[in-house]
Amino acid sequence: MTMFDLTGKTAIVTGGNGGIGLGIARGLAHAGANIVVAARNAAKTDAALEDIRELGAHAIGVETDVTSEESVAAMTEAATSEFGSVDILVNNAGIALRKAPQDYTLEEWNQVVDINLTGTFLCARQVYPLMKNAGGGKIINIGSMTSIFGSDWVASYSSSKGGVVQLTKSLALSWAKDNIQVNSILPGWIHTDLTTPIRSDNPERYASITARIPHGRWAEPDEMGGCAVFLASAASDYVTGTAIPVDGGYAAF
Ligand SMILES: NC(=O)c1ccc[n+]([C@@H]2O[C@H](COP(=O)([O-])OP(=O)(O)OC[C@H]3O[C@@H](n4cnc5c(N)ncnc54)[C@H](OP(=O)(O)O)[C@@H]3O)[C@@H](O)[C@H]2O)c1
Repeated sequence: MTMFDLTGKTAIVTGGNGGIGLGIARGLAHAGANIVVAARNAAKTDAALEDIRELGAHAIGVETDVTSEESVAAMTEAATSEFGSVDILVNNAGIALRKAPQDYTLEEWNQVVDINLTGTFLCARQVYPLMKNAGGGKIINIGSMTSIFGSDWVASYSSSKGGVVQLTKSLALSWAKDNIQVNSILPGWIHTDLTTPIRSDNPERYASITARIPHGRWAEPDEMGGCAVFLASAASDYVTGTAIPVDGGYAAF
């Protein structure tokens, strides 16, 4: 057993049916965790479960909308009835709507903030009593480079991701006494469904982003898994309230 071992631990990964969420779920599964994939699209979730189970992990899917209190309550209920505990929560579900700030309708603005920021709060609030009663836990929130930098075409997204970092710090302070560590991962630029339109519809922007990445390339989703395993494991028991860029050096500029 190493300090990164997650055998016997149960992790809920919101949006774990694709992209970064699946990359993180795969990383946690490799380390021995049971996985609960919580997302809306059941067909995508089924495919992800097949992938995760091929790694030898126990995994279930729960149809979840992170903006709904009832749905989030059902998510944790399903996790505990299958596995008995929730030791790790990865708040990864997220969307982006790309347009100029003056063009957002209120509904569009709220949709992004509701999923990315309020959804993170709702899921964390739901697992808190379980983790507290179990003597501790790990919450990992997925931010973004736009948690740090502004962006001309995703104002609602960058606002929500800045909020995720501040929420992370506040939860970390509130729950440190309960032995719950709350941290953020700030992914750089990763090839997923979310970013496919940048590559296909905005090749100039894709090229200028790539040119600014010290590693000289975008990442693949599995490359987010290592940091997630660290933040989910005993190796990070004295780490809380922080935001770790996994970005090929982008934020060091
Ligand atoms: N790709 C990047 O370069 C990048 C960079 C920085 C940060 N991020 C962040 O990383 C996270 C994952 O993004 P990704 O790039 O992997 O995009 P993605 O492939 O589009 O994945 C987003 C996931 O969120 C789920 N989701 C969306 N709304 C949801 C809701 N209301 N309830 C539950 N699940 C919901 C989606 O599943 P369903 O549609 O089935 O619900 C999907 O699996 C996001 O928070 C994103 O902001 C991505």
